[in-house]
Amino acid sequence: MTSQIKNYDEYVSAYKKSIEDPEAFWDQEAKGFTWFEAYSKVLNWDFNQAKSEWFINGKTNITYNCLDRHIKDRGDQTAILWEPNEPNDPVRKISYKQLLDEVCQCANALKSFGIKKGDRVIFYMPMVPELAIGILACARIGAVHSVVFAGFSAQALHDRINDAQAKLVVCSDYNKRGAKFIPVKKVVDEALNMGCPSIEKCLVHRNSSETVRWNWDRDIWWHHEVHKQNKTCIAERMDSEDMLFILYTSGSTGKPKGVVHTCGGYMVYTAYTFRNVFQYEDRDIYWCTADIGWITGHSYIVYGPLLNGATTLMFEGVPTFPDPGRFWAICEKHNVNQFYTAPTAIRALMAKGNEWPAQYDLSQLKVLGSVGEPINEEAWHWYNEHIGYQTAPIVDTWWQTETGGILISPLPNITDTKPTYASYPLPGIQAVLVNHEGQEIIENEVEGLLCIKHPWPSIIRTTYGDHERCKNVYFSAFPGMYFTGDGARRDKDGRIRVIGRVDDVINVSGHRMGTAEVENAINQHPKVIESAVVGFPHEIKGEGIYAYIISQNHLTDDNLKQEIIQTVAKEIGPIAKPDHIHFVEGLPKTRSGKIMRRLLRKIAAGDFDSLGDVSTLINPEIVDNLIHSRKV
Ligand code: WTA
Repeated sequence: MTSQIKNYDEYVSAYKKSIEDPEAFWDQEAKGFTWFEAYSKVLNWDFNQAKSEWFINGKTNITYNCLDRHIKDRGDQTAILWEPNEPNDPVRKISYKQLLDEVCQCANALKSFGIKKGDRVIFYMPMVPELAIGILACARIGAVHSVVFAGFSAQALHDRINDAQAKLVVCSDYNKRGAKFIPVKKVVDEALNMGCPSIEKCLVHRNSSETVRWNWDRDIWWHHEVHKQNKTCIAERMDSEDMLFILYTSGSTGKPKGVVHTCGGYMVYTAYTFRNVFQYEDRDIYWCTADIGWITGHSYIVYGPLLNGATTLMFEGVPTFPDPGRFWAICEKHNVNQFYTAPTAIRALMAKGNEWPAQYDLSQLKVLGSVGEPINEEAWHWYNEHIGYQTAPIVDTWWQTETGGILISPLPNITDTKPTYASYPLPGIQAVLVNHEGQEIIENEVEGLLCIKHPWPSIIRTTYGDHERCKNVYFSAFPGMYFTGDGARRDKDGRIRVIGRVDDVINVSGHRMGTAEVENAINQHPKVIESAVVGFPHEIKGEGIYAYIISQNHLTDDNLKQEIIQTVAKEIGPIAKPDHIHFVEGLPKTRSGKIMRRLLRKIAAGDFDSLGDVSTLINPEIVDNLIHSRKV
C-alpha cells in the first residue's frame, strides 16, 4: 500500500520531497507493492525522445497486487459491488476471493484460446462485472487489453481492432442502458464483417435471454468456456515496462491514437492517487460513475480501488433511469462514501430539480469528485449544497488518458477547495504554465498553456505502433516538457483552473472528440463538399459539436441534416453527432488555405462583436454571410 497524506503539513512536505528527489519519493511509495523481483533503478527519462521508464527491471503483476495480496486480510470483503440497470434486479457482490477465482478462470480460458503475453484483446462490453474480470484476466497472463466504449460504431470498433491487431474480441450479447436494449454483438459482427484478419475468436458474455446470431467457427460463450476452467492461474511475471493496456483517444489530427500504459508505473501511481484524492479508508464504499471504456473507469473503477483493497461500486445503467433520482437512490441504498462523476451528469441532474436528491439521505458521502471537463460555478455549488450538504469536499480532478492518473486535485479536508479550480498539483507533479513561445511563466494571476516538466510514474509511454506521433503530439511543442493541450489559469495562491483545450479537440460531455475526426465522418456523406467542425458552449454537455457544411448545390433541407447526422453516428458513434448543422456558402480561409477556426468558434458561440483580425482571409466577405445565416 502507498502512504496516505493526512494533513496540510504532510502534503507540503510530501510535495517538497517529490520535487527535490522524485526518485527517492517514488521509490518509497513503490515499496508498498509486491515485486517478484526488485527494480534496479527508479527512473530513466528523456522527454526529447518521449521516453519515460519507471521501476527499471522490476518484475510484478498488477493483478497480484489487486487480488492475491488482499486474500489473507480481506478475502471475504466485497471487491466489486454491482448495481444492475433495473433497480429491482439482484445486486451482485463479488468478494476478493471470488474475484480472484473468476479472474483466474477467465485467464485460463484466454490461454486455452491461444492468447499469450503481449497479444492484444479488444473489449466491447456494457458495464457488467465480466468486463472488469476480463481485463484483469488479460493483465494476469500479460495480454494487452484495449477497451472500446460500447457506444462507438462498428466502423470505429473495426478501426481500433485493426490498429491494435487484436486476436480476440470480448463482448456481450446485449447491453441494457435505461429503457434501451442495445444489440452489442450485432455491432461486433458488423465490425468483423468489414474485415479484421487478426481476430481469431469472439468471446461472448450472456447478458440477456434473447438469442443472437452465432458464428460457430468463431464465437464462444463465456459461460461455456470460462466457468469450466481451473480457479488457479499463476500471475505472469511482467516487467515494469511491459504493456498493460492500450486505450484509444481522440487528438487534434488524424485517427484516434492508442495511448499505451505499462505495468509498474501505472500500478504505483493509480494506487497512490486513489488513496490520497479520495482519502479512502477501510470499509468505505466508493463509487465512480464512469464507463470502463474511458480512462477514468480503468484507473478509478478497476485498478486504483482494487490495488487499495477497496469496495468499488459498478453501475450498469444511466443517471436518469427509471427516474432522475437514480444516482442518489444508489448512494443511499449502498451507503456510498466517495462519489466520483462528471460535470455533465451534475448539470443534467441539476436541471431535473432539487426534489430528486432531496428524497434521499446522502449524509454518508464524505468526498465528491468531478472529472473530465471544467466544472462551472453553478454546477459546483449545486453539487456542494444538494449532494454534499456543504460538508463533503469537492475534488475537481484534472487529468487525461495520457496521464494515466489524476495530476491536479484538492485533497479532501487537507487542501482547500475553490469553485472551478482543480487547485494544486499532487506530489510528483511539476505543473507549469508556459506562454506561446514556450517560456515558463513564473508569476501568479496569469493564463498560459499547461505543461508538466518532469515525468510521473503513469505518464504515456507511446502511441501504439507510432512512437513518432507520441513525440510530435506531446513532447515537441515545448522541448523538454510534456504538453497537455490544455490552457489554464493560475490564481494568486498558485491554484490551477483548467479552462479547456487549446487544440482542435472538443470536449463533449467529458468525451474527447477530434474536430478532424468528426469532419472526416461528415465528409463521407456524398452530398457534402466540405465541412468544418468546432465546439460551442452547451448548457448540459459543456461543449456541443457545431458543424459548418458546404453542401452540393447548396442544399439545406432537414432530410440532408438528418442523413449527415446518421452518417456521423455510423462512422464514429452517437456521441459524435453534431448538435448544430449550419449550411454555409463558403468557409473563411487564410491565404495558405487554412480554415480560420477561431472565427468559426466565435460565430458558433454567437459572439459576433470581437471577431478579431479577418484581414488575412482570402474571402473576408464570407464573414458577414456566416454571421447573417447564424442569426436566422
Ligand atoms: C479535460 C479524462 C477541466 C481536459 C480523465 C483534458 C478537465 C481532457 C478536467 C482529458 C477537469 C479533464 N477540469 N478539464 N477537472 N478533467 N479535463 O483523456 O481538457 O478523456 O485535457 O481524460 O479533459 O480527457 P480524457
